[in-house]
Amino acid sequence: MTDCDGAGAQTPLQLYESLTAQGDQVRVLKTAKADKGEIESAVQLLLKLKLEYKQATGQDYKAGCPPPENLTVPDNAPAAEGATNEDEVNPWSVTTNNAKGVDYDKLILRFGSSKIDKELVDRIEKVSGQKPHRFLRRGIFFSHRDMHQVLDSYEKHKSFYLYTGRGPSSEAMHMGHLIPFIFTKWLQDVFDIPLVVQLTDDEKYLWKDLSVDECHRFAVENAKDIIACGFDVNKTFIFSDLDYMGSSPQFYRNVVKIQKHVTFNQVKGIFGFTDSDCIGKISFPAIQAAPSFSNSFPHIFGDRKDIQCLIPCAIDQDPYFRMTRDVAPRIGYPKPALLHSTFFPALQGAQTKMSASDANSSIFLTDTPKQIKNKINKHAFSGGQDTVEEHRQLGGNAEVDVSFMYLTFFLEDDEQLEKIRQDYTSGALLTGELKKLLVETLQPMIATHQERRKQVTEELVKQFMTPRPLHFNF
Ligand code: TRP
Repeated sequence: MTDCDGAGAQTPLQLYESLTAQGDQVRVLKTAKADKGEIESAVQLLLKLKLEYKQATGQDYKAGCPPPENLTVPDNAPAAEGATNEDEVNPWSVTTNNAKGVDYDKLILRFGSSKIDKELVDRIEKVSGQKPHRFLRRGIFFSHRDMHQVLDSYEKHKSFYLYTGRGPSSEAMHMGHLIPFIFTKWLQDVFDIPLVVQLTDDEKYLWKDLSVDECHRFAVENAKDIIACGFDVNKTFIFSDLDYMGSSPQFYRNVVKIQKHVTFNQVKGIFGFTDSDCIGKISFPAIQAAPSFSNSFPHIFGDRKDIQCLIPCAIDQDPYFRMTRDVAPRIGYPKPALLHSTFFPALQGAQTKMSASDANSSIFLTDTPKQIKNKINKHAFSGGQDTVEEHRQLGGNAEVDVSFMYLTFFLEDDEQLEKIRQDYTSGALLTGELKKLLVETLQPMIATHQERRKQVTEELVKQFMTPRPLHFNF
């Protein structure tokens, strides 16, 4: 399987023209409110053409800017990419050779999800009546499954609930871990809906060299950081699998139903399990799938099994939910909808996601202002030039610059962010100055988080983690 550019390949100009035509076609279909499936396949084709264009020209397609006639494709253009160095994205590993990070458009094609386009962002704004979160405005949540259907129902006063989670592999959480929770908190606020948070201490026990007790303790510690994101205790249930699984007959019934409908062959295909993986791993996906069904939580939803679930998560979790969506109709449940985020890059660059085991690869939620400053100054990969003179002359490359990437995650003001991008690209803003802006953005954010976490008492954790009715009206 290669992205071959053999006989019959189009010239960059021909590709550009096909792209423009396809873009028009998508707009026509959308205006005509054509069948969703038809729009979806037109968008998929558009994305495919965009990728081909990028491979042929080494640059992104831009409407109204045809490729230069004397185009020379740079040596390191993605065109050189073969099947052997495809981005790898699965629940356990994320790697790419590209300094800009994973090619997310390609991932949408590979996973068969849909792009979160401007139309969907506008629709979320319209339905929720709120300015879209910066993660939506900036394509950090970039892919979805069935979000239009969730909004259709919501408009008809048929509500939904949120489900997200975390694998508690250590006490220390870093900034990247907060992305889904920050966004989920926003969704909970603007749609006013219940949320369940799964802490997969069982998963971490099965996969890591940790004791059951340690994993459970990490779950409770991580719950404090999650609570510090500001979730409403009246609308949120946080649970450790080790605790909840054994206490909830309804949850376990769903686990068993899912287990009966997925074969070993299927999980091998989806997750790459082999004959020597322990059987706990092989059956674990059923446990991550079960919270997608509302009757897994009778204390919240009674015996209703028809309440739609929306899962915000990083794209690497999608394999679990592809499996879940495949099983759902066969056991009489609605398929969960999904919103997928990109990865938060490591300080060293967007080639990998951060690792909780490398202290210098990320900013931890427990870092002091001084540690934050030092880590950024020392370790944040820079897209700037080697000397001030060169930088002034040539400008920096914001696309590969980790400090700039972090600002796109955390700086709220769109105009300020765009100005920073322009100034950095032109050379007016130096790397040191860019880093200073980032330090000044992160220090107060982390300090606030630490302050809020301190206020989270054992009593409050217990409240969040006790199965009980939640407040919502639907
Ligand atoms: N497997 C996830 C992890 O290791 C944890 C998780 C469980 C999760 N359920 C989820 C993440 C739902 C997102 C959405 O982090």
